[in-house]
Amino acid sequence: MKTIFITGGAGFIGSHVVRRFVLQHPEFRIVNIDKLTYAGNLANLKDIENKENYIFKKGDINDTVFIQKLFEKYRPEGLIHLAAESHVDRSISSPLDFVMTNVVGTVNLLNIAKENSSSSFRFYHVSTDEVYGELGKDGYFTETTKYDPHSPYSASKASSDHFVRAYHDTYGLDVVLSNCSNNYGAHQFPEKLIPLAIHNIQNNKSIPIYGDGANIRDWLWVEDHAHAIEEVYFKGKTRETYNIGGHNEWTNLDLMHLLCSLMDEKLNRPSGSSKKLITFVKDRAGHDVRYAIDASKIEKELGWKPSLQFKEGLSKTIDWYLGNPKWMKAVTSGDYQHYYKKMYEE
Ligand code: NAD
Ligand code: TYD
Repeated sequence: MKTIFITGGAGFIGSHVVRRFVLQHPEFRIVNIDKLTYAGNLANLKDIENKENYIFKKGDINDTVFIQKLFEKYRPEGLIHLAAESHVDRSISSPLDFVMTNVVGTVNLLNIAKENSSSSFRFYHVSTDEVYGELGKDGYFTETTKYDPHSPYSASKASSDHFVRAYHDTYGLDVVLSNCSNNYGAHQFPEKLIPLAIHNIQNNKSIPIYGDGANIRDWLWVEDHAHAIEEVYFKGKTRETYNIGGHNEWTNLDLMHLLCSLMDEKLNRPSGSSKKLITFVKDRAGHDVRYAIDASKIEKELGWKPSLQFKEGLSKTIDWYLGNPKWMKAVTSGDYQHYYKKMYEE
Protein backbone atom coordinates (compact mmCIF):
# COMPACT_ATOMS: atom_id res chain seq x y z
CA MET A 1 0.00 0.00 0.00
CA LYS A 2 1.36 3.46 -0.89
CA THR A 3 1.77 5.97 1.91
CA ILE A 4 1.24 9.71 2.15
CA PHE A 5 2.54 11.60 5.20
CA ILE A 6 0.50 14.55 6.44
CA THR A 7 2.08 16.79 9.11
CA GLY A 8 -0.08 18.87 11.45
CA GLY A 9 -3.09 16.64 10.83
CA ALA A 10 -4.50 17.13 14.33
CA GLY A 11 -4.87 20.88 13.82
CA PHE A 12 -7.66 22.89 12.23
CA ILE A 13 -6.99 22.57 8.49
CA GLY A 14 -4.91 19.39 8.82
CA SER A 15 -7.80 17.47 10.38
CA HIS A 16 -10.02 18.25 7.38
CA VAL A 17 -7.22 17.27 4.97
CA VAL A 18 -6.56 13.99 6.80
CA ARG A 19 -10.27 13.12 6.85
CA ARG A 20 -10.65 13.89 3.15
CA PHE A 21 -7.64 11.77 2.14
CA VAL A 22 -8.54 8.84 4.45
CA LEU A 23 -12.13 8.68 3.18
CA GLN A 24 -11.62 9.58 -0.51
CA HIS A 25 -8.41 7.60 -1.01
CA PRO A 26 -8.61 4.16 0.57
CA GLU A 27 -5.80 3.16 -1.82
CA PHE A 28 -3.39 5.21 0.31
CA ARG A 29 -2.18 4.72 3.87
CA ILE A 30 -2.34 8.15 5.53
CA VAL A 31 0.18 8.74 8.31
CA ASN A 32 -0.63 11.81 10.39
CA ILE A 33 2.47 13.23 12.11
CA ASP A 34 1.69 15.76 14.81
CA LYS A 35 3.37 16.99 17.99
CA LEU A 36 0.00 17.83 19.59
CA THR A 37 0.86 21.38 20.63
CA TYR A 38 -1.93 23.44 22.18
CA ALA A 39 -3.43 23.60 18.64
CA GLY A 40 -3.41 19.85 17.99
CA ASN A 41 -6.47 17.94 19.13
CA LEU A 42 -7.13 14.30 18.24
CA ALA A 43 -10.80 14.75 19.03
CA ASN A 44 -10.87 16.47 15.59
CA LEU A 45 -10.32 13.02 14.03
CA LYS A 46 -12.41 10.79 16.29
CA ASP A 47 -14.72 9.68 13.47
CA ILE A 48 -11.88 8.27 11.35
CA GLU A 49 -9.34 7.14 13.96
CA ASN A 50 -10.23 3.46 13.49
CA LYS A 51 -10.07 3.44 9.69
CA GLU A 52 -7.65 0.84 8.34
CA ASN A 53 -5.75 3.27 6.14
CA TYR A 54 -5.13 5.79 8.97
CA ILE A 55 -2.17 5.90 11.35
CA PHE A 56 -1.31 8.57 13.92
CA LYS A 57 2.28 9.23 15.01
CA LYS A 58 2.90 11.71 17.79
CA GLY A 59 6.16 13.60 17.34
CA ASP A 60 7.99 16.76 16.42
CA ILE A 61 8.95 17.65 12.83
CA ASN A 62 12.24 18.90 14.34
CA ASP A 63 13.06 15.44 15.72
CA THR A 64 15.37 14.11 13.01
CA VAL A 65 15.63 10.53 14.31
CA PHE A 66 11.86 10.20 14.71
CA ILE A 67 11.10 11.52 11.21
CA GLN A 68 13.91 9.51 9.61
CA LYS A 69 12.59 6.28 11.16
CA LEU A 70 9.13 7.02 9.74
CA PHE A 71 10.61 7.50 6.27
CA GLU A 72 12.53 4.21 6.57
CA LYS A 73 9.47 2.34 7.79
CA TYR A 74 6.81 3.64 5.37
CA ARG A 75 8.79 4.84 2.32
CA PRO A 76 6.13 7.50 1.58
CA GLU A 77 5.38 8.61 -1.97
CA GLY A 78 4.72 12.14 -0.73
CA LEU A 79 4.33 14.48 2.21
CA ILE A 80 1.75 17.23 2.70
CA HIS A 81 3.22 19.68 5.19
CA LEU A 82 0.79 21.65 7.35
CA ALA A 83 2.45 21.48 10.80
CA ALA A 84 3.16 25.01 11.91
CA GLU A 85 2.72 27.66 14.53
CA SER A 86 -0.16 29.52 12.94
CA HIS A 87 -1.36 32.45 15.05
CA VAL A 88 -0.11 35.95 14.22
CA ASP A 89 -0.65 37.31 17.77
CA ARG A 90 1.44 34.48 19.28
CA SER A 91 4.16 35.17 16.69
CA ILE A 92 4.37 38.75 17.95
CA SER A 93 5.00 37.60 21.54
CA SER A 94 7.10 34.46 20.76
CA PRO A 95 8.75 34.82 17.34
CA LEU A 96 11.44 32.19 17.97
CA ASP A 97 8.85 29.41 18.33
CA PHE A 98 7.75 30.29 14.79
CA VAL A 99 11.30 30.14 13.44
CA MET A 100 11.90 26.78 15.13
CA THR A 101 8.76 25.05 13.83
CA ASN A 102 7.97 26.85 10.59
CA VAL A 103 11.50 27.40 9.27
CA VAL A 104 13.84 24.90 10.98
CA GLY A 105 11.14 22.19 11.13
CA THR A 106 10.39 22.57 7.41
CA VAL A 107 14.08 22.43 6.48
CA ASN A 108 14.50 19.33 8.67
CA LEU A 109 11.69 17.61 6.75
CA LEU A 110 13.12 18.69 3.40
CA ASN A 111 16.55 17.35 4.35
CA ILE A 112 15.23 13.99 5.44
CA ALA A 113 13.02 13.74 2.36
CA LYS A 114 15.96 14.53 0.09
CA GLU A 115 18.06 11.75 1.64
CA ASN A 116 15.42 9.08 2.15
CA SER A 117 12.98 9.14 -0.74
CA SER A 118 12.65 7.99 -4.32
CA SER A 119 12.88 10.35 -7.29
CA SER A 120 9.07 10.44 -7.59
CA PHE A 121 8.60 11.66 -4.00
CA ARG A 122 6.53 14.87 -3.78
CA PHE A 123 6.90 17.51 -1.04
CA TYR A 124 3.85 19.79 -0.78
CA HIS A 125 4.11 22.93 1.37
CA VAL A 126 0.78 24.36 2.53
CA SER A 127 1.33 28.08 2.97
CA THR A 128 -0.47 31.36 3.45
CA ASP A 129 -1.33 34.47 1.44
CA GLU A 130 0.20 36.51 4.29
CA VAL A 131 3.66 36.01 2.69
CA TYR A 132 2.65 38.62 0.09
CA GLY A 133 2.22 41.34 2.69
CA GLU A 134 -0.81 43.61 2.42
CA LEU A 135 -2.92 45.26 -0.27
CA GLY A 136 -4.43 48.73 -0.43
CA LYS A 137 -8.00 49.25 -1.63
CA ASP A 138 -7.44 47.65 -5.03
CA GLY A 139 -5.75 44.64 -6.57
CA TYR A 140 -5.25 41.00 -5.67
CA PHE A 141 -2.39 38.71 -4.70
CA THR A 142 -1.34 36.58 -7.68
CA GLU A 143 1.29 33.83 -7.75
CA THR A 144 3.84 36.37 -9.00
CA THR A 145 3.22 39.02 -6.33
CA LYS A 146 6.50 39.91 -4.61
CA TYR A 147 6.95 38.46 -1.11
CA ASP A 148 6.71 41.20 1.55
CA PRO A 149 5.81 39.59 4.89
CA HIS A 150 5.18 41.84 7.90
CA SER A 151 4.53 39.63 10.94
CA PRO A 152 6.94 37.07 12.41
CA TYR A 153 4.36 34.43 11.39
CA SER A 154 4.27 35.48 7.74
CA ALA A 155 8.06 36.00 7.68
CA SER A 156 8.53 32.42 8.90
CA LYS A 157 6.13 31.05 6.27
CA ALA A 158 7.81 33.12 3.53
CA SER A 159 11.18 31.76 4.59
CA SER A 160 9.97 28.15 4.51
CA ASP A 161 8.39 28.72 1.06
CA HIS A 162 11.81 29.86 -0.19
CA PHE A 163 13.52 26.80 1.30
CA VAL A 164 10.99 24.51 -0.38
CA ARG A 165 11.75 26.03 -3.81
CA ALA A 166 15.49 25.99 -3.06
CA TYR A 167 15.31 22.21 -2.45
CA HIS A 168 13.87 21.79 -5.91
CA ASP A 169 16.35 24.12 -7.60
CA THR A 170 19.39 22.77 -5.75
CA TYR A 171 18.63 19.09 -5.18
CA GLY A 172 15.87 18.34 -7.68
CA LEU A 173 13.18 17.49 -5.11
CA ASP A 174 9.65 17.47 -6.61
CA VAL A 175 7.94 20.29 -4.70
CA VAL A 176 4.62 22.10 -5.01
CA LEU A 177 3.17 24.95 -2.94
CA SER A 178 -0.14 26.65 -2.28
CA ASN A 179 -0.84 29.97 -0.58
CA CYS A 180 -4.33 30.26 0.85
CA SER A 181 -6.43 33.03 2.37
CA ASN A 182 -8.09 32.94 5.84
CA ASN A 183 -9.97 29.70 6.54
CA TYR A 184 -13.09 29.27 8.67
CA GLY A 185 -15.05 26.21 9.78
CA ALA A 186 -15.20 23.45 12.40
CA HIS A 187 -12.19 22.62 14.66
CA GLN A 188 -10.53 26.05 14.57
CA PHE A 189 -8.85 26.96 17.83
CA PRO A 190 -10.81 29.78 19.53
CA GLU A 191 -7.89 32.20 19.46
CA LYS A 192 -8.74 33.04 15.83
CA LEU A 193 -11.40 35.68 15.11
CA ILE A 194 -14.47 33.63 14.10
CA PRO A 195 -14.47 30.85 16.76
CA LEU A 196 -13.36 33.37 19.41
CA ALA A 197 -16.34 35.60 18.60
CA ILE A 198 -18.79 32.65 18.54
CA HIS A 199 -17.54 31.50 21.95
CA ASN A 200 -17.66 34.99 23.45
CA ILE A 201 -21.13 35.80 22.13
CA GLN A 202 -22.45 32.51 23.51
CA ASN A 203 -21.00 33.39 26.92
CA ASN A 204 -21.99 37.07 26.82
CA LYS A 205 -18.38 38.17 26.78
CA SER A 206 -17.04 41.10 24.75
CA ILE A 207 -15.89 40.63 21.12
CA PRO A 208 -12.49 42.34 20.80
CA ILE A 209 -12.04 44.16 17.47
CA TYR A 210 -8.51 45.34 16.80
CA GLY A 211 -8.26 48.98 15.73
CA ASP A 212 -11.30 50.29 13.84
CA GLY A 213 -12.34 46.92 12.36
CA ALA A 214 -11.71 48.12 8.79
CA ASN A 215 -9.04 45.49 8.00
CA ILE A 216 -10.13 43.14 5.24
CA ARG A 217 -9.72 39.36 5.03
CA ASP A 218 -10.78 36.96 2.23
CA TRP A 219 -12.53 34.01 3.91
CA LEU A 220 -12.63 30.45 2.58
CA TRP A 221 -14.50 27.45 4.00
CA VAL A 222 -11.91 24.99 5.34
CA GLU A 223 -13.40 22.00 3.48
CA ASP A 224 -13.00 23.87 0.20
CA HIS A 225 -9.35 24.40 1.13
CA ALA A 226 -8.95 20.66 1.87
CA HIS A 227 -10.41 19.91 -1.57
CA ALA A 228 -7.99 22.37 -3.20
CA ILE A 229 -5.07 20.69 -1.38
CA GLU A 230 -6.15 17.33 -2.81
CA GLU A 231 -6.19 18.81 -6.34
CA VAL A 232 -2.78 20.46 -5.92
CA TYR A 233 -1.19 17.33 -4.45
CA PHE A 234 -2.34 15.07 -7.30
CA LYS A 235 -2.46 17.50 -10.25
CA GLY A 236 -0.23 20.49 -9.43
CA LYS A 237 2.87 21.01 -11.54
CA THR A 238 6.34 20.69 -10.03
CA ARG A 239 7.66 23.88 -8.37
CA GLU A 240 4.43 25.73 -9.11
CA THR A 241 2.51 27.80 -6.59
CA TYR A 242 -1.28 27.89 -6.54
CA ASN A 243 -3.14 30.71 -4.80
CA ILE A 244 -6.33 29.54 -3.09
CA GLY A 245 -9.07 31.94 -1.98
CA GLY A 246 -12.78 32.43 -1.63
CA HIS A 247 -13.45 35.68 -3.59
CA ASN A 248 -15.02 36.64 -0.31
CA GLU A 249 -13.72 39.86 1.22
CA TRP A 250 -15.10 41.22 4.48
CA THR A 251 -14.01 43.97 6.80
CA ASN A 252 -13.67 42.52 10.29
CA LEU A 253 -16.48 44.79 11.49
CA ASP A 254 -18.96 43.82 8.74
CA LEU A 255 -18.13 40.17 9.35
CA MET A 256 -18.81 40.56 13.07
CA HIS A 257 -22.14 42.28 12.31
CA LEU A 258 -23.20 39.33 10.13
CA LEU A 259 -22.02 36.83 12.75
CA CYS A 260 -23.86 38.71 15.52
CA SER A 261 -27.15 38.71 13.59
CA LEU A 262 -26.85 34.97 12.86
CA MET A 263 -26.02 34.31 16.53
CA ASP A 264 -29.06 36.34 17.71
CA GLU A 265 -31.30 34.14 15.52
CA LYS A 266 -29.69 30.86 16.58
CA LEU A 267 -29.65 31.69 20.30
CA ASN A 268 -33.19 33.18 20.18
CA ARG A 269 -31.94 36.49 21.51
CA PRO A 270 -33.53 39.85 20.63
CA SER A 271 -32.16 41.23 17.37
CA GLY A 272 -29.16 43.52 18.04
CA SER A 273 -28.15 42.02 21.40
CA SER A 274 -24.92 40.28 20.27
CA LYS A 275 -23.76 43.43 18.44
CA LYS A 276 -23.62 45.23 21.78
CA LEU A 277 -20.72 42.95 22.78
CA ILE A 278 -18.41 44.42 20.10
CA THR A 279 -15.56 46.26 21.81
CA PHE A 280 -12.82 48.14 19.97
CA VAL A 281 -9.40 47.37 21.45
CA LYS A 282 -5.79 48.36 20.75
CA ASP A 283 -4.73 47.50 17.21
CA ARG A 284 -2.42 44.55 16.47
CA ALA A 285 1.18 45.66 15.81
CA GLY A 286 1.93 45.61 12.07
CA HIS A 287 -1.73 44.76 11.32
CA ASP A 288 -2.03 44.06 7.58
CA VAL A 289 -4.77 46.20 5.99
CA ARG A 290 -6.17 43.91 3.32
CA TYR A 291 -5.68 40.40 1.91
CA ALA A 292 -7.42 39.29 -1.30
CA ILE A 293 -6.58 36.35 -3.52
CA ASP A 294 -6.72 36.01 -7.28
CA ALA A 295 -7.49 32.28 -7.51
CA SER A 296 -7.88 32.16 -11.31
CA LYS A 297 -4.80 29.93 -11.83
CA ILE A 298 -6.07 27.01 -9.72
CA GLU A 299 -9.55 27.47 -11.19
CA LYS A 300 -8.30 27.39 -14.80
CA GLU A 301 -5.51 24.84 -14.48
CA LEU A 302 -6.87 22.41 -11.87
CA GLY A 303 -10.62 23.05 -12.17
CA TRP A 304 -11.08 23.91 -8.48
CA LYS A 305 -13.48 26.52 -7.15
CA PRO A 306 -15.11 27.21 -3.79
CA SER A 307 -18.36 25.28 -3.28
CA LEU A 308 -20.06 27.20 -0.51
CA GLN A 309 -21.55 30.70 -0.23
CA PHE A 310 -20.18 32.53 2.81
CA LYS A 311 -23.48 33.08 4.66
CA GLU A 312 -24.30 29.38 4.38
CA GLY A 313 -20.76 28.40 5.44
CA LEU A 314 -20.79 30.76 8.41
CA SER A 315 -24.19 29.46 9.49
CA LYS A 316 -22.95 25.84 9.26
CA THR A 317 -19.84 26.83 11.22
CA ILE A 318 -21.83 28.43 14.03
CA ASP A 319 -24.07 25.33 14.15
CA TRP A 320 -20.97 23.14 14.53
CA TYR A 321 -19.60 25.13 17.48
CA LEU A 322 -23.00 25.40 19.18
CA GLY A 323 -23.56 21.67 18.59
CA ASN A 324 -20.19 20.67 20.06
CA PRO A 325 -20.05 22.34 23.49
CA LYS A 326 -17.83 19.53 24.84
CA TRP A 327 -15.19 20.25 22.19
CA MET A 328 -15.22 23.96 23.04
CA LYS A 329 -15.18 23.30 26.79
CA ALA A 330 -12.25 20.87 26.52
CA VAL A 331 -10.28 23.23 24.27
CA THR A 332 -10.84 26.32 26.42
CA SER A 333 -10.05 24.47 29.67
CA GLY A 334 -7.03 22.57 28.29
CA ASP A 335 -8.57 19.18 29.22
CA TYR A 336 -8.18 17.80 25.70
CA GLN A 337 -4.42 17.74 26.09
CA HIS A 338 -4.25 15.82 29.37
CA TYR A 339 -6.48 13.06 28.03
CA TYR A 340 -4.63 12.48 24.78
CA LYS A 341 -1.18 12.97 26.30
CA LYS A 342 -1.78 9.88 28.42
CA MET A 343 -2.88 7.85 25.40
CA TYR A 344 0.02 8.71 23.12
CA GLU A 345 3.01 9.51 25.31
CA GLU A 346 5.91 7.32 24.23
P1 NAD B 1 -3.24 24.94 13.59
O1 NAD B 1 -2.45 25.83 14.49
O2 NAD B 1 -4.69 24.75 13.85
O3 NAD B 1 -2.58 23.47 13.57
C1 NAD B 1 -1.20 23.28 13.49
C2 NAD B 1 -0.92 21.81 13.79
O4 NAD B 1 0.51 21.60 13.69
C3 NAD B 1 -1.32 21.39 15.20
O5 NAD B 1 -1.99 20.15 15.17
C4 NAD B 1 0.01 21.26 15.95
O6 NAD B 1 -0.02 20.30 16.99
C5 NAD B 1 0.95 20.84 14.82
N1 NAD B 1 2.34 21.21 15.09
C6 NAD B 1 2.81 22.42 15.49
N2 NAD B 1 4.15 22.36 15.67
C7 NAD B 1 4.53 21.10 15.35
C8 NAD B 1 5.78 20.43 15.34
N3 NAD B 1 6.93 21.07 15.68
N4 NAD B 1 5.82 19.14 14.95
C9 NAD B 1 4.68 18.48 14.61
N5 NAD B 1 3.46 19.06 14.63
C10 NAD B 1 3.39 20.36 15.00
O7 NAD B 1 -2.97 25.50 12.13
P2 NAD B 1 -3.96 25.62 10.88
O8 NAD B 1 -4.72 26.88 10.99
O9 NAD B 1 -4.68 24.33 10.71
O10 NAD B 1 -2.90 25.80 9.69
C11 NAD B 1 -2.30 24.67 9.08
C12 NAD B 1 -1.34 25.13 8.00
O11 NAD B 1 -2.02 25.91 7.03
C13 NAD B 1 -0.20 26.03 8.55
O12 NAD B 1 0.98 25.69 7.89
C14 NAD B 1 -0.65 27.44 8.19
O13 NAD B 1 0.46 28.28 8.00
C15 NAD B 1 -1.41 27.18 6.90
N6 NAD B 1 -2.50 28.15 6.60
C16 NAD B 1 -3.46 28.43 7.54
C17 NAD B 1 -4.51 29.30 7.22
C18 NAD B 1 -5.61 29.59 8.21
O14 NAD B 1 -6.50 30.40 7.92
N7 NAD B 1 -5.66 28.95 9.38
C19 NAD B 1 -4.56 29.88 5.96
C20 NAD B 1 -3.55 29.57 5.03
C21 NAD B 1 -2.54 28.69 5.35
P1 TYD C 1 -7.03 35.96 12.77
O1 TYD C 1 -8.23 35.07 12.86
O2 TYD C 1 -6.06 36.00 13.90
O3 TYD C 1 -6.29 35.63 11.39
P2 TYD C 1 -5.09 36.44 10.63
O4 TYD C 1 -4.45 37.36 11.58
O5 TYD C 1 -4.18 35.33 10.23
O6 TYD C 1 -5.74 37.13 9.47
O7 TYD C 1 -7.54 37.45 12.55
C1 TYD C 1 -8.43 37.78 11.49
C2 TYD C 1 -8.64 39.29 11.52
O8 TYD C 1 -9.34 39.63 12.72
C3 TYD C 1 -7.33 40.09 11.59
O9 TYD C 1 -7.50 41.29 10.83
C4 TYD C 1 -7.16 40.41 13.05
C5 TYD C 1 -8.60 40.54 13.53
N1 TYD C 1 -8.86 40.13 14.94
C6 TYD C 1 -9.58 40.98 15.78
O10 TYD C 1 -10.00 42.10 15.38
N2 TYD C 1 -9.85 40.56 17.04
C7 TYD C 1 -9.40 39.36 17.53
O11 TYD C 1 -9.64 39.04 18.72
C8 TYD C 1 -8.66 38.50 16.66
C9 TYD C 1 -8.15 37.16 17.14
C10 TYD C 1 -8.43 38.93 15.36
